[in-house]
Amino acid sequence: MIRPLSTFDDFRNAITAYRLPRVLIAAIELDLFTAIGTEAWAIPDLARDMKVSERGLAILCRNLAMAGLLKKQSETYRNSRLSATALNAHHPAYRGDYLRLITSHWADWGRLPESVKSGLPLDHDEPEESDYRRRFTWAMHHRTLETAPKIAAQIGLRGARTLLDLGGGPGTYAMAFLSKNPALRATVCDRPAALDVAKEIASTHKAGARLFLMPLDFLAEPIPGTYDVIWYSNVLHIYSPKDNQALFLRALAALNPGGRLLIQDAFLHDREGLFPEEASLFAVSMLLFTERGDTYKAAETRTWLTDVGFEQIKVLRMKKGTEDWEGGIMEARSPGTNAKTRERQTRSIRNSQSRSSH
Ligand SMILES: C[S@@+](CC[C@H](N)C(=O)[O-])C[C@H]1O[C@@H](n2cnc3c(N)ncnc32)[C@H](O)[C@@H]1O
Repeated sequence: MIRPLSTFDDFRNAITAYRLPRVLIAAIELDLFTAIGTEAWAIPDLARDMKVSERGLAILCRNLAMAGLLKKQSETYRNSRLSATALNAHHPAYRGDYLRLITSHWADWGRLPESVKSGLPLDHDEPEESDYRRRFTWAMHHRTLETAPKIAAQIGLRGARTLLDLGGGPGTYAMAFLSKNPALRATVCDRPAALDVAKEIASTHKAGARLFLMPLDFLAEPIPGTYDVIWYSNVLHIYSPKDNQALFLRALAALNPGGRLLIQDAFLHDREGLFPEEASLFAVSMLLFTERGDTYKAAETRTWLTDVGFEQIKVLRMKKGTEDWEGGIMEARSPGTNAKTRERQTRSIRNSQSRSSH
């Protein structure tokens, strides 16, 4: 998008940018890429097969070819490599649960004024229902299965024996860390329905034998055990600053001395908290789908971490194009064994506990 929007043309172009996304969503809703499969189709044959109009399909396919998702050759269309795999329900690499999740957002985003007026999510009950949680967890797996190994390859965990994937959902990141670090054991902590999915995924990997499951509501209860590393990925934005501060305190108590908390999220990096664009826009999803969520400035997250006693806080640099979010990984260390730092840690935990009880 061109920014800032300073002329009426800029504004019009920004608003009409919905057109291509709607074309893509229509193709997914009609399951067009599955219908095309591995063949080259002329429009009349495909329209008959899909039971849609020739006129509608011709215009849709022309636009999908313009976007590179279909290959047009004379009067026929075939799938591109991407649409033949991730978008085709007959292919093992199909990412159906994630496609269903993101395409369903079209209708939800249409109701944005309701959430702006009420300050509340569109639906209070659905997210905790176990069938929804299972489908959402598969969607999270489909979303991160390429990113997780790239990130695990860039985060050195030498010396770490235990990792807790807090709110780990499908455990895709935990599995990626296990595959990269043969001496590591990892525990995925989440709700039972999410852990069912993590178990299923782990059973298909050799490294899955080193994956353990911990059903727990980590906001309601302390975290059992201690770990060298806690991976807290894409959870910060679901909760309020107060929830996250309470969680950081719990995480600190669950880390071995010198242990690392790694937070992955859509951090805002400028002073006013507007950029990157993706992180600002993601806050809208949090408004629509969560009761207290938002996206946060890296600077404020750093303050919450310091307040509860974390040290050596920094944003990790990842290779461009390999990240889940731009500048999206923050590392914080639990103080080491040294008596002085331990004392400071205890004092700061006590202070912040008395602050949060006011
Ligand atoms: C957006 S998903 C992120 C999954 C994974 N960490 C990733 O980065 O792809 C958030 C996960 O946190 C879990 N979660 C959120 N709040 C939780 C809580 N209070 N206790 C346990 N799990 C929680 C959800 O069930 C969900 O699986």
